[in-house]
Amino acid sequence: MTNTSSNGVVAYEVVDRIAWVKFNRPDKRNAMSPTLNRDMMEVLDELEFRDDVGVLVLAGEGPAWTAGMDLKEYFRETEAHGLGSTRKAQRESYGWWRRLRWYQKPTIAMVNGWCFGGGYGPLFACDLAFAAEEAKFGLSEINWGILPGGGATKVAVELMPFRKAMYHAMMGENIDGRTAAEWGLVNEALPLTELEARVTAVAKELLKKNPVALKATKDAIRRVSTMSYDDAEDYLVRAQEAANSFDNEGRKEGIRQFIDEKSYKPGLGAYDTSKQKKQKA
Ligand code: COA
Repeated sequence: MTNTSSNGVVAYEVVDRIAWVKFNRPDKRNAMSPTLNRDMMEVLDELEFRDDVGVLVLAGEGPAWTAGMDLKEYFRETEAHGLGSTRKAQRESYGWWRRLRWYQKPTIAMVNGWCFGGGYGPLFACDLAFAAEEAKFGLSEINWGILPGGGATKVAVELMPFRKAMYHAMMGENIDGRTAAEWGLVNEALPLTELEARVTAVAKELLKKNPVALKATKDAIRRVSTMSYDDAEDYLVRAQEAANSFDNEGRKEGIRQFIDEKSYKPGLGAYDTSKQKKQKA
């Protein structure tokens, strides 16, 4: 059953432990208005710690993933109300992207169509990203006279090689899903007709893994990127020790099934989490 957020601009549905969350303003190409930003935080809150949710997919209704920030409602109308209003709108949008970057459950961006500007915030916030070959990505800010703000410049530099990032930001030309995959914005591009099946398959694989280890792993990948090697080494020891005390059974079960039961090989797949004592995600 599809649910909608308070103002109807986010739709969501949980099917077989996969939460399908959609930007739901197709007539406005899913542009992120302050209302949408508030509703998205509400939906992320609702889903994050539910036992029946193991993976979250962020998709878009209609022909867009998201056309970025809403030029009318996010920029023009908030600016008309002064600096306080602008800062509030920024807090609300950056807030849910930050929430998504550190989300408890693994997250996948399923980029079905247009992805512009501010949309790079949630794109980067998702752990993995898959795009339709037909999708179009653009840092269009330069085309209407601003720099790629709201983290979009940072996302470009984090995900793309320097020359690609510079060209992308300065030229305001769109790239399709396939080029986005080549340049590192997404993991893979597939024909739109195959996109949902691929994302579902990836989500199902993630559902088989130890959820405590997944959260520790996704946080570690984000954290170590700005650390020295020694700092990262130390962080990873402590992060694993923290995960051990939170989930002592999972890793022991993983060792047991490999060493004693010989029922799987960690180099070739994940252990059977259904055989271990129930743990909270
Ligand atoms: N902010 C506000 N409204 C937007 C919007 C945005 N970012 N993107 C689309 N819309 C609105 C349009 O104004 C239009 O509203 P209307 O029906 O009331 O006139 C509606 O969504 C449909 O857009 P339209 O331009 O007719 O759709 P399209 O399919 O022909 O083109 C885009 C799609 C995405 C190429 C085009 O809408 C566009 O360039 N949007 C702006 C993208 C952008 O620069 N975003 C960066 C913001 S940081």
